[in-house]
Amino acid sequence: MTEPAPAVPARGRLEGYDYDRAALRRKLAEVPQEPGSAKPQPILAVDDIVRRFGGVTAVDVDHLEVQRGAITALIGPNGAGKTTFFNLITGFDRPSRKEEGRTPRWVFQGTELASTSAFRVAQSGMVRTFQLTKALERMTVMDNMLLGAQDQPGERILTALFRPAWRKREAEIREKAAALLARFTLDTKRDDYAGSLSGGQRKLLEMARALMSDPAMIMLDEPMAGVNPALTQSLLGHIQDLRDQGTTVLFVEHDMHMVRHISDWVVVMAEGRVVAEGPPANVMAHQAVVDAYLGSHHDQDLGDDALLDEDFGQAVAAEDAEREGRA
Ligand SMILES: Nc1ncnc2c1ncn2[C@@H]1O[C@H](COP(=O)(O)OP(=O)(O)O)[C@@H](O)[C@H]1O
Ligand SMILES: [Mg+2]
Repeated sequence: MTEPAPAVPARGRLEGYDYDRAALRRKLAEVPQEPGSAKPQPILAVDDIVRRFGGVTAVDVDHLEVQRGAITALIGPNGAGKTTFFNLITGFDRPSRKEEGRTPRWVFQGTELASTSAFRVAQSGMVRTFQLTKALERMTVMDNMLLGAQDQPGERILTALFRPAWRKREAEIREKAAALLARFTLDTKRDDYAGSLSGGQRKLLEMARALMSDPAMIMLDEPMAGVNPALTQSLLGHIQDLRDQGTTVLFVEHDMHMVRHISDWVVVMAEGRVVAEGPPANVMAHQAVVDAYLGSHHDQDLGDDALLDEDFGQAVAAEDAEREGRA
């Protein structure tokens, strides 16, 4: 007999969170199925967010609300603006200069996040996964987890090493990392290089790392991409467990089987805009959705590796400065 996996430290039951999924779905069934519809308990509300790259309008969202406690899928053809939207709301990119009468604004759990740094956004409880970049591949699985803990308020793992309070804190963080690795069946890999993991194991590590900071909402960009079909079922299970234990999930996915299977609500983007919203079964049959997919132009997916690059961070900062100068 193997020991049961150690429980991940719980943050207790959350007030007003729909742990009962059937009740949540009944509630969502009452929500108007139209772009920008109000949700009963939005964890995130976004207004007037626009991002242009030269002549291309990557994102132009008037209004979007994400229901707390739900698994919301964001779908749409390649180039629809899904990844750019994720980048914007998590502070890894900035909206284009505000246009007349439209001020970008988004509120997560009551906190205004426009013009907040990616680090602060993560601290506020909205965390996105990152693909393993070359640098992270050269670290062990455990070290990747410890790096995820940097999102914790007040922690700076690499500089705090010699502070007396550090030892106790470090022990707690390692314990938490070990519990999460066990939960995602990566405990036997803790000392392996992350680069040696399979596609599916990488996705699990990305998820486990994001959970080190106990996010209220986790954002997954194509969690099934590159995952061996044998592992997809367990990944689906993990995502549903996250929701059941109190984490709101927003994910981008191309695999419609997965979207249909696990999401409570689906938001459809096309050419930067939200074109449809609703429960999965209804949305997939919607004319705007069929049109969006038929009219898809298959741009190259830029991925998100560039975001962890220092040059990229500086480029965003420089653009910000330039925009301030022009404003
Ligand atoms: N850094 C960038 N520079 C120039 N164009 C970009 C950049 N990022 C995204 N785009 C463009 O913005 C549009 C939306 O892209 P993206 O958000 O990656 O779409 P999706 O994730 O839905 O496939 C596409 O036309 C894409 O080419
Ligand atoms: Mg994308």
